[in-house]
Amino acid sequence: MKNTVLIFAGSTRAQSWNRLLAREAADAARQQGAEVTLLELGDFDVPMYNADLEARGTPPDVVRLKEIFHAHPAWVICSPEYNGSYTALLKNTIDWVSSPIPGHPEWSDALRPFAGKVVGLLSASPGGLGGLRSLSHLTPLLLNLQCWVSPRQFALAKAHEAFDAEGRLPAGAPRDAVADVVRQTLWASRAFAAAREAS
Ligand code: FNR
Repeated sequence: MKNTVLIFAGSTRAQSWNRLLAREAADAARQQGAEVTLLELGDFDVPMYNADLEARGTPPDVVRLKEIFHAHPAWVICSPEYNGSYTALLKNTIDWVSSPIPGHPEWSDALRPFAGKVVGLLSASPGGLGGLRSLSHLTPLLLNLQCWVSPRQFALAKAHEAFDAEGRLPAGAPRDAVADVVRQTLWASRAFAAAREAS
């Protein structure tokens, strides 16, 4: 069975370090034999979540995003840190995609819409903690959605010094750590798929 993974950054900033990290994670996943969807959240026209707005009809780009999130058994999120937590963009995206919508009973279990998804977490920041605190907030949010969060996480500190002129991570410990998080995420995703098939 082909291992597929959705990878995205919680930033739309043009020079986003987390986007560069997402590209590294995507390369690692492809090298490990996975089929990768590298998503750019800025390509989607998504308003701030409002239940009244949703009641008038889910915006088309939100429906596209929901389809993508539901179609992938594993996700890798590259999370920036704002004020010791994850970004409003990430929260808004997850609120929209986790909300049930009429006509899609398969997405309509509001309590556990993403039960069994496997999620790997990475972060990057110019700061010394690498955005680690964003991951400590993102983890309970994902567990609340009944996702399985890979215990191996990695926060890239001093991101502005970590990438080379081409925006790549040179060979070494940070690149290996990204590959490890991806490896563990893909492993768990495969293991769950096999267990589902067997049960
Ligand atoms: C930040 N930044 C930041 N960095 C950090 O390590 N810890 C923090 O708490 C914060 N807080 C924070 C708040 C706000 C409002 C902004 C705009 C920025 C810096 C942030 O990590 C930096 O801008 C990153 O480069 C953002 O990620 P991308 O866009 O490069 O992926």
